[in-house]
Amino acid sequence: MKSRDIRKAFLNFFESKGHLIVPSAPIVLKDDPTLMFNNSGMAQFKEYFLGNGTPKSKRIADTQKCLRVSGKHNDLEDVGFDTYHHTMFEMLGNWSFGDYFKKEAIAWAWEFLTEVLKIDKDRLYVSVFEGNEAENVPFDQEAFDLWKQYVPEDRIIYGNKKDNFWEMGDQGPCGPCSEIHIDLRSDEERAQVSGRSLVNADHPQVVEIWNNVFMEFNRKADGSLEKLPAKHVDTGMGFERLCMAMQGVTSNYDTDVFTPLIQKVAQITGLKYTSNEVKNISEEQNKINIAIRVIVDHVRAVAFAIADGQLPSNTGAGYVIRRILRRAIRYGFTFLNQKEPFIYQLVAVLADQMGEFFPEIKSQQNLVTQVIREEEASFLRTLEQGLHLLEKVVAETSGKEVKGEKVFELYDTFGFPKDLTALILKEKGYSFNESEFEAELKKQKDRSRAASEVATGDWHILVEGNTEEFVGYDQTENEVKITRYRKVDSKKDGILYQIVLDATPFYPEGGGQVGDRGVLVSANETIEIIDTKKENNLILHFAKQLPENVNTTFQAKVNTELRSLAASNHSATHLLHQALRTILGTHVEQKGSLVSPNYLRFDFSHFAKVTDEELKEVEDFVNARIQEHLPLIERRNIPFAQAVEEGAMALFGEKYGDSVRAIKFGESMELCGGIHVQNTADIWYFKIVSESAVAAGIRRIEAITNKAVKEYFADQEHLLAEIAALLKNPQDVAKSVTSLQDENAKLKKQVEQLLKDKAKNLKGELASQLENINGVDFLAVQVDLDAAGVKDLAYELGNNKNNLFVVLATVNENKPMLTCYVSKELVESKGLNAGQVVRELGKYIQGGGGGQPFFATAGGKNAAGIQEALEKAKEFVK
Ligand code: ALA
Repeated sequence: MKSRDIRKAFLNFFESKGHLIVPSAPIVLKDDPTLMFNNSGMAQFKEYFLGNGTPKSKRIADTQKCLRVSGKHNDLEDVGFDTYHHTMFEMLGNWSFGDYFKKEAIAWAWEFLTEVLKIDKDRLYVSVFEGNEAENVPFDQEAFDLWKQYVPEDRIIYGNKKDNFWEMGDQGPCGPCSEIHIDLRSDEERAQVSGRSLVNADHPQVVEIWNNVFMEFNRKADGSLEKLPAKHVDTGMGFERLCMAMQGVTSNYDTDVFTPLIQKVAQITGLKYTSNEVKNISEEQNKINIAIRVIVDHVRAVAFAIADGQLPSNTGAGYVIRRILRRAIRYGFTFLNQKEPFIYQLVAVLADQMGEFFPEIKSQQNLVTQVIREEEASFLRTLEQGLHLLEKVVAETSGKEVKGEKVFELYDTFGFPKDLTALILKEKGYSFNESEFEAELKKQKDRSRAASEVATGDWHILVEGNTEEFVGYDQTENEVKITRYRKVDSKKDGILYQIVLDATPFYPEGGGQVGDRGVLVSANETIEIIDTKKENNLILHFAKQLPENVNTTFQAKVNTELRSLAASNHSATHLLHQALRTILGTHVEQKGSLVSPNYLRFDFSHFAKVTDEELKEVEDFVNARIQEHLPLIERRNIPFAQAVEEGAMALFGEKYGDSVRAIKFGESMELCGGIHVQNTADIWYFKIVSESAVAAGIRRIEAITNKAVKEYFADQEHLLAEIAALLKNPQDVAKSVTSLQDENAKLKKQVEQLLKDKAKNLKGELASQLENINGVDFLAVQVDLDAAGVKDLAYELGNNKNNLFVVLATVNENKPMLTCYVSKELVESKGLNAGQVVRELGKYIQGGGGGQPFFATAGGKNAAGIQEALEKAKEFVK
């Protein structure tokens, strides 16, 4: 079966069991501070397990793009070395939200594998949770009894907490699980060693394919377990591993998920990849195989992350993506000898292969390709630079061991990986001190861990049930009750309280727009809300303190001034988007946005600098829409398909519900949850303040509206008045500046001429002061010239002479400098060396320098030392 048919079979099967099939959520998470990337199928449904939201069906199935490269689940360093771990993989999953439980989950898993896919039962093992006394969770007798109906007892394995109790993170929903493992070894091998002994033993051909989690608990901040309000099923099957089992191969990389990519790498590099069936390969070939696996794995993770809106960058999720790509680049660089960008060429293969099921990769193909290519080029430059530095480090090393600190410095500042450094050093017959390196690395990790430590307390629930709602589209004030709160202690922000209200008017940060600020007012006190954010479907209000009485009624009041400024910038952002698509073309797509009360920032795909004329056109376009006084047409709860049909812009990497909100101003229509002005006239005026590049193919515009524009123009006017006053208020300021510039140029020329004349006079004067000592014409004096002048003078003096030795001292802006000139003949006959002279005399002026044997200079800090330096100069000729 082809991989696409296997995926389809899974979804069809669960659809036939009453499941709603949903698309994969984006790989990058937007509103969950506890998780950067989707690391399992259930991440997008977390809120349903916790009881914070209601799913659209109690039975759901999908295939989810997952990334396990950070946090609790991190496989990055294994990838490439084995044949069954990945950074990005697809997880096939089926879920029950308070509906069916172990009986159906187990029966269906077995039916799908053995009856639909017809996998040989004798190759399958299952595991059940053995129980854990400390956690007070017993042996999973129920699962055991259910499995016994299908599987002989000697194929049922008892698993401990590590293997058979699944948790998404340190806190949150969790429960005992049952895994299904498959033994893909040959009949002969299976006859010799029982598969049972190889389950969970990291054997590459005895691997877990499916995990069925029975969600019953929530892990609290103090580490204890509490029962969830209902029982759920969460399953996850490794799609690539299932393909391996179905396609009769023993490596995920030998399935049709990877072979087209591998063939492309082989074609580009002219190197061969050997399948897992080929045994006894050379050390050399093994390295090539690993590198190719790293590259074809990593390109998927990076390409899908970019398509879902996460560009490589220097912080957060962007940095993780950059590191993955760099790992691929350096494997290509070192083991496949690729010194030019090449990984970007795999995007086309990926788009062909996966574009049917994941259209985002096809429609973003151009951008993804460009971004990867540019990242490759820039990291290859870094590698070059690092190589030079490494040569320097080696040159400065006495002995054969380079200091660990140096290798760390290369790693930290230039992203030069330690194993690459080790490899290059080895070729030169050097090594480095590994423990020094590790010590530096640990220091750095400790520093960043300390900086990012967060202790999240448990919720104090005041009102049970799922009662929270958002009323902020219609109101900026409301009478509210606190339904729950918790304390969060972080190094970054100190102690903050997160408060949830029953019906809040506060807009939580989202869609680029910052969260509302405001106050909660009760009869006795006022609590300031400094920010509002959304997490797992809850709207969190951040406060530095809790009300004394949390059970009372409050008036929640949004700061309407800040909000209306943000609304102005948000509506302007939509108009800007429309303007860019109209003027630059429909390839323009939003790639990031920040809407704050002060300004707006908009990142978009476009492959050239936006010219000044284009910017002017864009500005005029937006201002024309403002002048048309377009009213806001807001439509809530319309079906997604209908909105898109009517022409609403949907963004890649955004997670939209079935029913959406559309915002329309004239011809601009976008799906958007943000706060907007009632009429474009409320924006007052739109002004672009900057245009720049963010990454390959991504431009950034920053702009202001409303009050900020008024302030901007007032500032400009003030600045102009100030300049005019400095120029004594001429009629025409520009003309006055031009004539100042002309005058300045003229004066500069005159000064240059005067200095030249002065040097000439000085030359005559100094020539008469030369003292002949031991056949050398010697002079050491201080002169009043700049650096260029003193050099000219020294060369002039030396002209036509073969026995000159002069030391000239100057002071410019309090900085002393010594210049030494020695006739070439003296360098040879007397061994005089200008470089050595300035180095030694430099000490008197607290400085140093150097140059050539016949001409050298030294700058210093102590002008008072000049006299002494000049006196000592004579000793060189004596
Ligand atoms: N959430 C479970 C896992 O990722 C199914 O293994």
